[in-house]
Amino acid sequence: MSSTAQDISREERDGYVGIPRHVAIIMDGNGRWARKRHLPRFAGHKAGVEAVREVVKSCGEKGVQILTLFAFSSENWRRPQKEVGLLMDLFLTALEHEIKKLHKNEVQLRIIGDTSAFPDKICKRIEQAETLTADNHQLVLNIAANYGGKWDITQAVQQLANKVQQGELTPEQINDQHIAAHLSMKDLPEPDLFIRTGGEQRISNFLIWQLAYTELYFTDVLWPDFDRNELEKALDSFASRQRRFGRTGEQVEQLKHA
Ligand code: IPE
Ligand code: IPE
Ligand code: MG
Repeated sequence: MSSTAQDISREERDGYVGIPRHVAIIMDGNGRWARKRHLPRFAGHKAGVEAVREVVKSCGEKGVQILTLFAFSSENWRRPQKEVGLLMDLFLTALEHEIKKLHKNEVQLRIIGDTSAFPDKICKRIEQAETLTADNHQLVLNIAANYGGKWDITQAVQQLANKVQQGELTPEQINDQHIAAHLSMKDLPEPDLFIRTGGEQRISNFLIWQLAYTELYFTDVLWPDFDRNELEKALDSFASRQRRFGRTGEQVEQLKHA
């Protein structure tokens, strides 16, 4: 089967353009940042909020349309109870303090993950923040909280199983688009660029389905030190890559000019 300009999806075509539409980040290294300064781990998390502010602003200015940040994984409950409690407090405070400014800057805030595990106070704030910003279109900011890629796929499969049970779908009809249509970010294009700070080179149960064709970028910079300049380095790296989606490099060049 030969490739023509027609059978290339919009996602793929946009993916060839220099600025990623969707950037997803594992913000790692807060604890080590604090330890280097002989501070408690929590000081690193607090400093991490500053970095979030700067990166949200810079992404908006650069023309990134969607930013997804991993704030708390489904495995982070395994941390000492005190750290988990402090992280919850910080999440709540950040929601309360940042929401007005985000709204003013026309940022649409969404929380992805199993929020049913959070205290009522946080759930209420999340709902208020999402409702307030629902019609904003400058940047979609997804905060992944109690998120796990395996959880996301599992809940999608549960929804599909229900549809099969209701007779709306047969098992044979299920394809990858059905699964994608039931994931947390179903209405958004998949990430073009993935960034992980803090030196580890792993996915840690982040967006496992949605990263299938994402460009990966790892940096040793600890999250609180990740600033506009570091974001630019990641964007430059992205712009220098050729995304082939299974095709040959020559085909990609032809499609770009088709
Ligand atoms: C990432 O920083 C923030 C969260 C997971 C909440 P870490 O807290 O994992 O920092 P390190 O990896 O221990 O340095
Ligand atoms: C991943 O970081 C989760 C977040 C950044 C929220 P971790 O620090 O929890 O990842 P692992 O456990 O080192 O893989
Ligand atoms: Mg870590």
